[in-house]
Amino acid sequence: MKNKNLFAMDILTVAEINAILFDAHLFSTIYKDWQFPDNRRVANLFFEPSTRTQYSFESAQHQLNCKVTTFNAETSSVQKGETLYDTVKTFEAIGMEALVIRHPQNEYFQELEGKITIPILNGGDGSGNHPTQCLLDLMTIKEEFGQFEGLKVAIVGDIKHSRVASSNLTALEKLGVTTYVSGPKEWSKDLVNYRPLDEIIEEIDVLMLLRIQHERHEDTMQMSKKQYLTAYGLTHERMGKMKPTAIVMHPAPFNRGVEIDGELVEHPQSRIFKQMENGVHVRKAVLKRAFGYEFPDTESVND
Ligand code: CP
Repeated sequence: MKNKNLFAMDILTVAEINAILFDAHLFSTIYKDWQFPDNRRVANLFFEPSTRTQYSFESAQHQLNCKVTTFNAETSSVQKGETLYDTVKTFEAIGMEALVIRHPQNEYFQELEGKITIPILNGGDGSGNHPTQCLLDLMTIKEEFGQFEGLKVAIVGDIKHSRVASSNLTALEKLGVTTYVSGPKEWSKDLVNYRPLDEIIEEIDVLMLLRIQHERHEDTMQMSKKQYLTAYGLTHERMGKMKPTAIVMHPAPFNRGVEIDGELVEHPQSRIFKQMENGVHVRKAVLKRAFGYEFPDTESVND
């Protein structure tokens, strides 16, 4: 079997992205109950906290009839100095057939590539990449607008420390979307696409908000929560200026009253919980890809 790792969005072609999104769509519609024909043994290795990624992968795996092992770094031999490579090699040796890994080290997968034969699905690496978050974001945008070409997306907040921002900027540009970044200028990686939010709020189709990644900051933030919300966040006033067809997204966890006014999280134009729902469909699609399964009758569905 060809090893179907998923490390980052830059290794996927547009055709591969579209194939994953198509499978995720099928999982959300006609193949809701479809399962892998064999029980595949999968393990989730999270070295950083997670609610959505870990548990939506777990939900996807259970729905696909996988046998799921959940690794706990706190009670493992990582505490005795075991390296990431040795932990991963151990999981391969004890019979796991695919691994989902989240790790604080940027591009941790580079030290594993070519040395592990089972597929590795990246659940987030430091401030580097978060491909399944990006794919679920793309699914949410595609469901809303039917296409990517010609859309305008603003990603707002802690761009510099956000793996969600870097994965989305890579993928959205590939797909023909005009992207802007906004928020505190010192948190932007480059200022080429930088625009103050108030200059673009009326023209964008998607407002993608980001959590401040305090755990990756060297200095503590000088601004109060209220000051941040007023300067860079989604307030009622800004919401009122958005196009009626525009949507609000956030990878979560969100901080109500910081990057978004708490009352707007469940605004009719917010797709934040829809993103989480789509996360399960997308993760089923990348697991299917990892194991190289085909849906029955996919061709007749395509017709
Ligand atoms: N969006 C996201 O990655 O959330 P978790 O950190 O809870 O997995």
